[in-house]
Amino acid sequence: MEFIDVIKSRKSVRTYSDKPLDDIHLQTILEAGRNAPSFQNRQCWRFVVINDKNKIKYIASNSGIVGKINFFIKNAPILIVACANPAQSGNMNGQNYYLVDTAIALQQMMLTAWNLGIGSCWMAAFNEEKVKSILSIPPKIRIVAMSPFGYPKEKENIYGKMIKVFAASDKRKKQDKIICYNEWTL
Ligand SMILES: Cc1cc2nc3c(=O)[nH]c(=O)nc-3n(C[C@H](O)[C@H](O)[C@H](O)COP(=O)(O)O)c2cc1C
Repeated sequence: MEFIDVIKSRKSVRTYSDKPLDDIHLQTILEAGRNAPSFQNRQCWRFVVINDKNKIKYIASNSGIVGKINFFIKNAPILIVACANPAQSGNMNGQNYYLVDTAIALQQMMLTAWNLGIGSCWMAAFNEEKVKSILSIPPKIRIVAMSPFGYPKEKENIYGKMIKVFAASDKRKKQDKIICYNEWTL
């Protein structure tokens, strides 16, 4: 696929076949994250790759009340928990860039996955403390996001369809609403 077509066609996937991920594909995805840019190239990110189906199922039903909305991850063959050590990133203008570093890396993984026919879905809805405890993640490490990775089922289930309607997922703001030139005119 042309790179722009990868970006434009990517959609969050919430209905997974349980077909295991090709290991070569998984390695390609992980490499895409590892090669991301980061604050002073400090690479504060850390990734927990979960390929134990029982553990994924356990997280699907034990990541807090808010995590219940992401029960759909239970069928995915892989769950990647994107973590960061904030002390290893940097601060500018009062902003800690660990979130940015880790988000870029995870997004590079997701786009690479899509190009390989593998779906993913950014997830912020989980109880961080509960997931940290399940995975023995130390206190100083933050979980930035999680995403399942797997081959999409041909048909999205009703829940996936509902979320897309609820979030108006197919819509993007027009350029003139988000971009200006030379000075702020928005
Ligand atoms: C920071 C962030 C958090 C998100 N959290 C969740 C989530 O917890 N559960 C979920 O199903 N989708 C989640 N999404 C996915 C968005 O709903 C989705 O990206 C958006 O509706 C656009 O749809 P698309 O990804 O199919 O283009 C999240 C996306 C982002 C960027």
